[in-house]
Amino acid sequence: MTSKEEWPLLEVKNLHASISTTKGNIIPVNSISYSIKPGEIVALVGESGSGKSVSALSIMRLNAPEIKYKSGSVINYKGKNLLELKEKEMRRLRGNEISMIFQDPMFSLNPVHRIGKQIAETVKLHRKVTPKEAKDIVLDLLKKVGIPDPERRMSNYPHQLSGGMRQRVMIAMALACQPTLLIADEPTTALDVTIQAQILTLIRNLQEETGISVLLITHDLGVVAEIADRVLVMYCGKIVEEGTVDELFENPLHPYTKGLMASVPELSEHSKRRLETIPGSVPNPLELPKGCNFCDRCPYASEECGEKEPVLTKASAESDRQVACWYPLGKKGEINHYAKTSNFS
Ligand SMILES: Nc1ncnc2c1ncn2[C@@H]1O[C@H](COP(=O)(O)OP(=O)(O)OP(=O)(O)O)[C@@H](O)[C@H]1O
Ligand SMILES: [Mg+2]
Repeated sequence: MTSKEEWPLLEVKNLHASISTTKGNIIPVNSISYSIKPGEIVALVGESGSGKSVSALSIMRLNAPEIKYKSGSVINYKGKNLLELKEKEMRRLRGNEISMIFQDPMFSLNPVHRIGKQIAETVKLHRKVTPKEAKDIVLDLLKKVGIPDPERRMSNYPHQLSGGMRQRVMIAMALACQPTLLIADEPTTALDVTIQAQILTLIRNLQEETGISVLLITHDLGVVAEIADRVLVMYCGKIVEEGTVDELFENPLHPYTKGLMASVPELSEHSKRRLETIPGSVPNPLELPKGCNFCDRCPYASEECGEKEPVLTKASAESDRQVACWYPLGKKGEINHYAKTSNFS
């Protein structure tokens, strides 16, 4: 059962990651702060290039070495700043208490080993078990993630499995160490809609059974609606809106969130709904606008939006609702000219 206690399991504060290139500095993650409570499923959403994977890989400390963290960046896990841990201590946490389903499956599955052996190795790495016990745990994990005929499948190589099955195996691998925090980076993107729905239900069920916390990364708000508790919307390296799933779907405050909602594909094979996409494209990270990063694509932008950047500001007295917009939207999805936030000076 979930116990959404009040203290955060993970607390990210002012996380700032930059890459220095010959053409200038890129800031894939620009001073973001958020937290995840025990038992919570928090979704990180945003279009391609918004900094979701760099944020997630920062928690695992698996970003490319050219990505540097600004001093003052904090990723507290159970109160310890992961960015300051010795590599040895980090290795103990990684794939043990914190595990990740990577966007790129090549990260996780070795093509030359049978899947049963791969999962068993992970189990043995983290628990003192006999080979027979390891095998039973592997079988149990494969059953849990819905692999039919697990006894036979154990001896398959990754290429002998379908995309959906491989994804399930990756989830089994990620769960093999009984993590406290699971990071899932676009776990269903490459799969067809029926399998997507099954994998999402699987993650939700596993969360309910084991009480783990999940950081779920996706560009698809449809996925979010299915399983998340809380949502962080990212754009150009910044969090532009935060709220519970209900709050967000009932009343998106940021025009970008509203745009993402209009492009939600339905998780149904028979859906014929045409998808709208947000007009324009994500700005070049080397040439970000002076004011709000979304300004050039925003149907509601005024002149001042192009001049000064809005900061993430509390938008509700009762909840953790936050938005970074000079003119947040009203209940009907229309701009509320009286709602201009007070952070414009
Ligand atoms: N090693 C790197 N070198 C140079 N630029 C990088 C590197 N890693 C990430 N970036 C840049 O940082 C930005 C954020 O990348 P990131 O992979 O976090 O995006 P994302 O939100 O995960 O996108 P997607 O949905 O496509 O996975 C992008 O502009 C990307 O090109
Ligand atoms: Mg990514």
